[in-house]
Amino acid sequence: MDFTIEKNRFTNIAADVIVLKNEELEVHVTSLGCTIVSIFTKDKFGHKGDVVLGFDQMDTYTRQDKYLGAIVGRCAGRIKGAKFSLHDQTYTLAKNNGENTLHGGFEGFNTKVFDYEMLPNGICFHYVSKDLEEGYPGNLHVSITYILDGSKLIAQYDAVCDQDSVVNITNHTYFNLAGKGTVLNHELQVQSDEILCSDEDCCANGIPMDVSDTPFDFRIPKTIGKDIEVKHEQLIIGGGYDHFYLFNQQDKAVVLKDPSSGRILEVSTNQVGCQIYSANFLDGTLEGKKRWYFDRREALCIETQAAPNAIHTEKEPTTILKKGEPYQAITIFEFKTEKEVRS
Ligand code: GAL
Repeated sequence: MDFTIEKNRFTNIAADVIVLKNEELEVHVTSLGCTIVSIFTKDKFGHKGDVVLGFDQMDTYTRQDKYLGAIVGRCAGRIKGAKFSLHDQTYTLAKNNGENTLHGGFEGFNTKVFDYEMLPNGICFHYVSKDLEEGYPGNLHVSITYILDGSKLIAQYDAVCDQDSVVNITNHTYFNLAGKGTVLNHELQVQSDEILCSDEDCCANGIPMDVSDTPFDFRIPKTIGKDIEVKHEQLIIGGGYDHFYLFNQQDKAVVLKDPSSGRILEVSTNQVGCQIYSANFLDGTLEGKKRWYFDRREALCIETQAAPNAIHTEKEPTTILKKGEPYQAITIFEFKTEKEVRS
């Protein structure tokens, strides 16, 4: 793997852009929020193109609240009521999404400049989130590692805390395998029999719903657009897909395919599920790379993680990280083309 470090691509903030490159992949990441700015992969004709949404200007990253490409934490997703109790103590979080907290609060990991070190085949970012930062207990030491391995981008999130706390880290990359237009004609497969329902605030309420005979069934691949406008209560609440899928299998749990470019993304993870988000809140106002104004449904986020809002909905919440115990989440994003899959 080759790498270059750009100190000055973005001028208004002291964050670097690091370009990681091998034969198959070119990944641009910035130390602001460990954000993935670009991923270049080959299409079925062998042409390289950028398959993620991002910005040319760093100040757009700092102004937007759509989490493009960023690591989100401490706790991904919404926590109902922006508070939780742990060991009889109530912790008050930032209300940055109505009455709820979202993706770590106003100053979540996406807003932090991480230190980093280069590895032979990737990069490792470090950050210490201080006790009570955004309301969460304990000093949390976080490492975010991105590794290039052939056509795989391996993302590993490690953390350890000096008190019991709540942790659920994910990456919020918006994929568009065609590099333009909506993703409604991308084909999606999700190895999942159940989603968690959302309440009227889009908070996961912990109630599972069998996907059979609903627009949420992606066990057999279908286009994202096929059923997205069906008048299903859960689709109306989300304004589209914005739900937590519980995986039946973690290997190739999610497969996304763009027929026009022949690009395929296979996602494998050690996490129990993922938030599938069809970019329903993009509205054409954010100016992205190459003057592309990102519109509704012009990407899909595949946010592998533990169940959002688990602290309120699970008897023994899987998002509690015990003092001194290691947190480790791994997700592999493997890029292929139709041609390779067929041969
Ligand atoms: C997603 C979340 C959406 C929206 C988005 C950021 O993870 O599920 O509801 O908040 O992040 O714009």
